[in-house]
Amino acid sequence: MSHRLVQGITALFLSEVFVFLPSLWLLLYLIRLRLRTANKARRAALFEELGHSKQNGKRVVGFFHPYCNAGGGGERVLWTAIASMQRTELNVLSVVYSGDTDATKEEIIAKVKARFDISLDPSLLHFVFLRSRRLVEDSAWPRFTLLGQSLGSMYLAWESMTQLVPDLYIDTMGYAFTFHVVSLLCRIPVGAYVHYPTISTDMLARVKSRTEWHTNRNDVTSSAILSSFKLLYYRLFMYYYALSLQTANFLMVNSSWTKNHVDSILQHSDVLIDALHWLPPLNVVKFLTSRNAPRTARIVYPPCDTREMAQFQLTPRKRIVLSVAQFRPEKDHRAQLQAFALLLKQHPEYIKNDDQRVKLVLVGGSRNEGDEKRISELRKLAKNLDIEANVEFVINASYPDVLDWLSKASIGLSTMVDEHFGINVVEFMAAGVIPVAHASGGPLKDIVVPFNGERTGFHAKSKEEFASAMETVLSLSPEEELAMRWRARAWAVQRFSEEEFERGWTESGWRDWLSHQ
Ligand SMILES: *[C@@H]1O[C@H](CO)[C@@H](O)[C@H](O)[C@H]1NC(C)=O
Ligand SMILES: *[C@@H]1O[C@H](CO)[C@@H](O)[C@H](O)[C@H]1NC(C)=O
Repeated sequence: MSHRLVQGITALFLSEVFVFLPSLWLLLYLIRLRLRTANKARRAALFEELGHSKQNGKRVVGFFHPYCNAGGGGERVLWTAIASMQRTELNVLSVVYSGDTDATKEEIIAKVKARFDISLDPSLLHFVFLRSRRLVEDSAWPRFTLLGQSLGSMYLAWESMTQLVPDLYIDTMGYAFTFHVVSLLCRIPVGAYVHYPTISTDMLARVKSRTEWHTNRNDVTSSAILSSFKLLYYRLFMYYYALSLQTANFLMVNSSWTKNHVDSILQHSDVLIDALHWLPPLNVVKFLTSRNAPRTARIVYPPCDTREMAQFQLTPRKRIVLSVAQFRPEKDHRAQLQAFALLLKQHPEYIKNDDQRVKLVLVGGSRNEGDEKRISELRKLAKNLDIEANVEFVINASYPDVLDWLSKASIGLSTMVDEHFGINVVEFMAAGVIPVAHASGGPLKDIVVPFNGERTGFHAKSKEEFASAMETVLSLSPEEELAMRWRARAWAVQRFSEEEFERGWTESGWRDWLSHQ
């Protein structure tokens, strides 16, 4: 019996070594050859299209950002990085892999200007439009979402590379599984700016302890078998995610929260799963993946363009409580309405239409039907709370309009729990708007912290605490008010400037990887 087993395993190894691996290598070789040949012509056409007569010394950096037209914080990072490269590196062309097939290059550039006030040079920028973006949408994968989206992203990367292979690939949206496709098929250096880990060691621990969470449906938790199956799925997924991150040549992260997670994933080990990967057929994975990553990721705080806001007059301010956040569920706009309703209940003099009147203004982008629906529910809630007359919704405001609100408001409200950072809070502070933010995450640890030992804003958890913090700001003496607005601004401008971001981006070493080849 055991003799047969040994024979079987030997046969498996032999067929792997003599048949499977050679065929795989041949296949890979042919694919690489084909990509390389086709790419020469595409590259020449690109240089011609952009009006660069000669290619000599010119390099191409590809940014994988399928939702580049979304206008959120992740996009600000992308466009600031590209604009900074355009200013300092005239021989580098930026290519953005985008799924926004409904927009043209000109439209995207115009929107970046309107939304972020970032000017892009069209002669150093090119878009590769992708048709398969739906493969990375949640809705395409009702079950096994993580796995589905990851496989989808690999296909999307393949679609990208068949259209144009850059000299350096940088993922700015968190699609780490694409690194394998790019590094295996194109053999170019890979880097990433990670906003958020796809799966964290916390998530794994939660599944392990079978606690309930939003990704952990009730019917699954109730069954032990399904739970252990799910744990295996997560362990495998984590193993592959760690392999993906380790493939990158350089990694930037947007906050200390993300750094903690990414660093621990880079060190992640799973003895059992790893042992399985020494046996055929899984050992193929070992042949195909390479480990390039540094042991730790570098923090590059996202840029907050504070130049303009930092010019606003600190006083006088209107009695406006301002919220600037996309209408996503986790931003918890409901809590804002409830806290504001409590404030008005405790101070009826704030309702009336005179100089005591306080207004809540909710400024935010609406991306899709889900957001639209949430907005109409919020309007309903405002009506039920009987604060409708003191609440204003401003949907899809342009950047100048957002700035205008920031220049007038008194208080900046942010209710999201465990926000890892909170760029909107930085903007409040730079604009001289005193922040009242949830006592958790980035706003608690990194942003609304004392400056020279004195307060730069307030933290709250319950609606009572939010209401009382708002009341405190509204009743500051003029001297205290001015001093606090000044401190908030001085701190935010110093810590989260575009210059700081650009320095960090440069120090990531992308330039060295580009010239490395
Ligand atoms: C990092 O990215 C995550 C996910 O987009 C976001 O929640 C967080 O606020 C970001 N952190 C910073 C410092 O911008
Ligand atoms: C906001 O913009 C999104 C997409 O850009 C669009 O679908 C939506 O209809 C807009 N909503 C409003 C109220 O303007």
